[in-house]
Parts: sequence; structure tokens; C-alpha cells
Amino acid sequence: MKGKFITFEGPEGSGKSTVIVAVKDFLEKEGYSILTTREPGGIKIAEDIRSIILDKENTEMDAHAEALLFAASRSQHYNEKIKPALEANKIIICDRFIDSSLAYQGHARGLGIDNVYDINKFAIGNNLPELTIFIDVPPELGLKRVFSNTRKVDRLDLETLEFHELVYEGYMLIAKKYKNRFKIVDGTNPVEQVVKDTLKIIKTII
Ligand code: TYD
Repeated sequence: MKGKFITFEGPEGSGKSTVIVAVKDFLEKEGYSILTTREPGGIKIAEDIRSIILDKENTEMDAHAEALLFAASRSQHYNEKIKPALEANKIIICDRFIDSSLAYQGHARGLGIDNVYDINKFAIGNNLPELTIFIDVPPELGLKRVFSNTRKVDRLDLETLEFHELVYEGYMLIAKKYKNRFKIVDGTNPVEQVVKDTLKIIKTII
């Protein structure tokens, strides 16, 4: 089987990470070779950049600098980890990728979705994911989950509800732009159902 590049997207507290673990488990039991990774991060250089971006002390970070750091980290991550895994015919599942930059930096920070797409094109060329699963939860519910569980709260979580509503609106614009690869799953359902719905979509490409 040829390698497949699948990404997961969603607002804060959408439960992406839990769904990814369950999906990986299920597919491995069926004999598929799965590599999971995340952004920002995934390899040392990108994890180093991640700690700069998400540091709660870095309140003065400029939006352009933020977008460029995400793109720099993505370039390293793609070339060092994702591309070789694709060439080895693995299924790569990545927690956040280019659409996070388009929604957060492009739309919510107001840099423009097309501008942020352009710097990402410089970073990773035309290597978009084949499939993107968007775990859909309203921003208010997602934030409530983040602040009531044990996950570490980072600089971007601390943005206002208004910012997170813009992120959500950005994702909806992206969904329209990339209808073919961008698939929406209802994340307000019980996790077993979310996993089931996600697997059903993934099965259409593997
Ligand atoms: P993370 O702890 O991975 O959050 P989550 O569990 O919600 O995925 O932190 C990543 C944060 O960085 C999250 O707030 C989304 C944001 N982000 C961007 O703003 N742009 C990007 O390109 C990426 C990859 C993430």
C-alpha cells in the first residue's frame, strides 16, 4: 500500500488527541503500520520551536513571527519525519498541520488565509495532507473542557473566547475551500462514536 498522510484539526479541547490514540490502536490491530506525530513539534528542532511559540511568558510575540515560526517548524517536521515515513509507505497521522496555521494565524490573527498559505507553500511545497479530519466542537465547549481537565494550559489557550470563535470561523472557511480533503466529524458525541465516525472516513482512503 502507498503511504497516506492524514491530519487532525479542531478547536482547543476538541478531543483530537484521544481520538488519534484510539484510531491508531484500531488500525494497528488490523495490521496497518501507523506513525503518529504532532504539530508544533514532532522532532527535536520543531519541539524547540514549539516551546518558544507556546511559552506563556512570550506575550509580546508578533503575529507574523508566530506564523513564520509555525511554518519553519513545519518545514523541518515534514522533511525530517513525515516525508521519509510516506516514502516507507506508512500511514502518518498528524495532530494539527497547515490548516491550524490558516485558521489561527491566517484568520484569527488577521494575517489573511492566503498570505499564511503562501509562507507555508514556501515551507512545504505542495505537500498537503490527503485527508483532514476536523473534530467539530463549539469553541465555548472546547475551552470549558481545556480548563476543567489536567492538560497544561499554553499561551494560545489563554486567548479570549472571541479569538477562539474566529479560529472556528476560519476552519469553516477552510472547510469550504478544501471540500475534497476536509471532512467534519461531530466531536460533541461520546468518544466511541467520534472514533467510529472517524474510522469510517479513514477507511475510504486506505
Ligand atoms: P497543543 O498543546 O498541541 O494544543 P492542542 O491540544 O489544542 O492541539 O498546542 C498547539 C497550539 O498551537 C494550539 O493552540 C493551536 C496552535 N497552533 C497554531 O496557532 N498554529 C499552528 O500552525 C499550529 C500547528 C498550532
